Amino acid sequence: MIIKNGRVINPSTNQDELVDILIEDGKIKALGDFSHMEDNQTIDAKGCIVAPGLVDIHVHFREPGFTHKEDILTGSESAAAGGFTTVVAMANTNPIIDNEETLKLVLDKMKESKINVHTVAALTKGFKGQELVDMESLHKLGAIGFTDDGIPINNGKLILEAMLKAKELNVPLSFHEEDPSFIGIAGINEGKVSKKLGIKGATSVSEDVMVARDSMLALSTGATIDIQHISSGNAVDMVRFIKGLGANVFAEVTPHHFSITEEAVLEHGALAKMNPPLRTEKDRARIIQGLKDNTIEIIATDHAPHSAEEKTGELAKTPSGIIGLETALSLGITNQVKVGHLSLMELLRKMTINPAKLYNLDCGTLNVGSNADIVIFNEDESYLVEEFKSKSSNSPFIGQTLYGKIKYTICKGKIVYKN
Ligand code: DOR
Ligand code: ZN
Repeated sequence: MIIKNGRVINPSTNQDELVDILIEDGKIKALGDFSHMEDNQTIDAKGCIVAPGLVDIHVHFREPGFTHKEDILTGSESAAAGGFTTVVAMANTNPIIDNEETLKLVLDKMKESKINVHTVAALTKGFKGQELVDMESLHKLGAIGFTDDGIPINNGKLILEAMLKAKELNVPLSFHEEDPSFIGIAGINEGKVSKKLGIKGATSVSEDVMVARDSMLALSTGATIDIQHISSGNAVDMVRFIKGLGANVFAEVTPHHFSITEEAVLEHGALAKMNPPLRTEKDRARIIQGLKDNTIEIIATDHAPHSAEEKTGELAKTPSGIIGLETALSLGITNQVKVGHLSLMELLRKMTINPAKLYNLDCGTLNVGSNADIVIFNEDESYLVEEFKSKSSNSPFIGQTLYGKIKYTICKGKIVYKN
C-alpha cells in the first residue's frame, strides 16, 4: 500500500511534512517521494493529515455481561470509525476481570478484533477495595495495567501495597478518583446546576482529596500512576505540583471534560451525566491550561456505552457515562486546535505516543519498521454528528457540527474504516 500526497504528522519525532508512506507486510517500510510508484492499493491523501492510529487507554467494551450496550467487536468498529487503532478496555464487566479465567476469555475475544484491543484487570477482587488481585499472574497472562475504574478505592493502605507491587512489575495503575463520602448523586456536579435540579451532586473536592492521596503515595513509592478522567481544576494543579516533585503521575482528560460544562446537563439530561461529572467553566479553563502546559499528557475517551432505555427516566437513577470514540478527534480539533489552545501536533501527541508510552505499548508512531497503524483525516472538513457504529448512542454531541472528518483508519496495513 502507498499513501500519497498527505501531510504526515508524527508526534514521536515531531515530523510535520508532505511525504508519502510505503507500507509492506503490515509495516511502515519507508517515508519519501513515491509519486512515481504504483501499488495495488494507493490512497490519495491530498488535503488530509496522515497521523499514527489513535490510542485510547480508557474504553468500556462491556463484554462479558453487558453486551446489549456494546461488545468487543462493535466497540472495535466504533474505535476504528473514530480513527483509533489501539484501545485499552476497562475491567467493570460481569464477571469482573479479576481472575485468570475471565481475563483469558476476554483476551481471546480481543484477538478477533480488527484493531488492537488490550485490557486492564481489576486492582481489587470484586472491586470491593479489600484485597488485591493476583497482579503478577494476571499481568503475566496479558493484563497491561490495573484499575477498579468506576469504583473509587477508599483503602489507602491497600493502594500503597498495590503501588509497591506495580513498581516491581513495571505496570501502571489507574485510578477513578471520587471519594463517595462527598457525593450525593454521582454524575452531576454539586453546584449551580444541581441546585437548580434540587439535588445534592458530586463535589469536586471528592476528586481533589483522592488525587492528593494517590499523588503523594506515588511520590513516595515511585510507582507510575494515571489519574483517570480528571475533571477538577484543583486536581489539575495538584498533578502539576506532584509532577514538579518528580513523581510518575500522569493524567488523562476526556474530550467531554475539555469541551463542555455542567450546563450541558440542563440541555441534555442523562446524556450529559457521567462520573466524574462535567464541572464549571473555571474547571474547564484549568483543564485547558493543564493540556497546554503538558500537565495533562493524555486524552482518553472513557467511552461508556449505555442503552437508550437505560438513559431514559429519572435523571438521578440513570447510569453515568457517555460514548466517546467516534467524536474524540473532532472534539479535539474543534475545541482545542481550531480555537488556538493546542497545535495539531500537540493534540495528536496526547492521543498517540503519550498514551502508548504510559502502557508500554509498541504503537502510536509512524516510524519506519512500526506497524502500519494510521489515521487519515481532513481537519478542515466539518460534519454533523448523527449516528454511530457503537451499539449505543448516548452522546450529548448529537446534532453538533464538528471539524475533522476521518477518511481512513488503517490497522497493520489493512483498511479497517473508510468514509
Ligand atoms: O461515567 C462513567 N461511566 N464513569 C466511569 O468511571 C464508569 C463508566 C461506566 O462504566 O459506565
Ligand atoms: Zn472512571
